[in-house]
Amino acid sequence: MDKDRYDITVFPGVYPPSEDTYLLLDSLEIKPDDAFLEVGCGAGLITLVAAMKANDVVSIDSSLEAVRNTLQNLTRNDLLKNCHVIESDLLCALAPSSKFSLIVFNPPYLPQDDDQTDLDHALIGGEKGTEIAQRFIRQASEHLVAGGRIFVIVSTIADTDSIRETMTKCGFETETVAEASLFFEKIQVLRGVLW
Ligand SMILES: C[S@@+](CC[C@H](N)C(=O)[O-])C[C@H]1O[C@@H](n2cnc3c(N)ncnc32)[C@H](O)[C@@H]1O
Repeated sequence: MDKDRYDITVFPGVYPPSEDTYLLLDSLEIKPDDAFLEVGCGAGLITLVAAMKANDVVSIDSSLEAVRNTLQNLTRNDLLKNCHVIESDLLCALAPSSKFSLIVFNPPYLPQDDDQTDLDHALIGGEKGTEIAQRFIRQASEHLVAGGRIFVIVSTIADTDSIRETMTKCGFETETVAEASLFFEKIQVLRGVLW
């Protein structure tokens, strides 16, 4: 992935493209006929790459600043025309009939701690760190076509087995397709294919 080909700005309080962003991006197989959804778009780099490759792209974030940031980056790169960017808690704002063939999420995955920062919404995945990812998996399974795929980042800081179990319960065949060791954790990209 040639990340330098995009003209990206990052608003204050929005998660900047990082190691996990690039690991997820490099794992994705995006086809022109994919109906693509990114949850938690942040500054929008993954959405921009998807907009270059797929004809139909929807992008969601619960942070209004992230929604504005993604919209601005799509506009700067002349990629807005096949994209919709929505403020939503996970997939809650979507009509039940909205279906996708590919849904991706680099979720907040750290457990809650006592420190507070203005990036907590992008980093903290709940008390155990897995709650937002688990909720995402359940919702995504309701918005995928048969044979549809999800790609989600997990970290060994949280309980990755419980996330795999949820994927299996929701009907996904799950595989680890990439991993990277960072300072104090290993991050992995899980791919789930809906049976
Ligand atoms: C780790 S950042 C990833 C940003 C970007 N996709 C990337 O990879 O650089 C997680 C993003 O998920 C968003 N987010 C957190 N909880 C969410 C929720 N319940 N619904 C939608 N987005 C959420 C955050 O605002 C943040 O932008």
